[in-house]
Amino acid sequence: MEYKSVLVYSNIKVYDDVYVLSLKIDDEVKAGQFYMLKAWEDEPILARPISVHNVEDGVVSFAYQVKGRGTKILSNLKSQDKIWVLGPIGNGLDTHKFKGKIALISGGIGIAPMLHIAKGLNGEIDLYAGFNKNPYLLDEFKKYCSNIYVASKGVEGYYKGYVTEIFNPYEYNVVICCGPEMMMKRVVEMCKIYATPVYVLMENKMACGVGACLGCTCSTKEGKKGCV
Ligand SMILES: Cc1cc2nc3c(=O)[nH]c(=O)nc-3n(C[C@H](O)[C@H](O)[C@H](O)COP(=O)(O)OP(=O)(O)OC[C@H]3O[C@@H](n4cnc5c(N)ncnc54)[C@H](O)[C@@H]3O)c2cc1C
Ligand code: FES
Repeated sequence: MEYKSVLVYSNIKVYDDVYVLSLKIDDEVKAGQFYMLKAWEDEPILARPISVHNVEDGVVSFAYQVKGRGTKILSNLKSQDKIWVLGPIGNGLDTHKFKGKIALISGGIGIAPMLHIAKGLNGEIDLYAGFNKNPYLLDEFKKYCSNIYVASKGVEGYYKGYVTEIFNPYEYNVVICCGPEMMMKRVVEMCKIYATPVYVLMENKMACGVGACLGCTCSTKEGKKGCV
């Protein structure tokens, strides 16, 4: 697989430092997959991994939060600008195998991959989304989720605490989670108690994204893993 150059369709600020970048890409994308994105020549050296947020009519969208140099450059992209992409990559989730009641649990920008995942699921879906301040990107989920539970420690009108305090794994057949590592660890511990199958989307730093550089940084029982 090689990098290809594509055109920016739109790049919209949706909240504070959160943007949705839409690119003209006609790919089939499995739920939970991502692309390596690069909108610069030499510096920074590495492309940045960003999950697929949505796929619609030949346009693939990415929701991202500005963290450092790479995502700052992405946030300045305009319609018709050129960008290099590698993907879709990552194992993704076999959503057709999931049945029954499914919980999607996100923390902050961990909401990004959940829309494309929700669209590929057949069961009854509940979304638990946690934010530090105001929620974002939730409108589209209304079409695909039976219930949307929002937690925010910083804004009135939502559950004032962590999503892990309002979610009970016993009620679900499958749990899918993406967010800060501490939150995902807690969700996995909770699911273990009831033997509820749980899938986590890890967002550790990575380099090539395709299994070529041994740069994966997730520690697993079988050593360092990540992109493959
Ligand atoms: C498979 C995968 C999917 C991802 N999907 C998304 C997504 O959909 N939306 C999104 O906003 N982000 C996503 N990320 C995280 C995103 O890749 C990083 O935030 C981004 O690479 C930071 O690049 P930067 O140049 O802006 O920041 P840098 O200048 O490289 O770093 C700025 C800060 O961000 C931290 N940082 C750098 N890389 C990561 C990382 N991979 N994870 C967490 N913190 C990091 C650094 O420690 C530093 O504090 C994903 C990461 C992976 C591995
Ligand atoms: S990032 Fe290169 S092998 Fe995973």
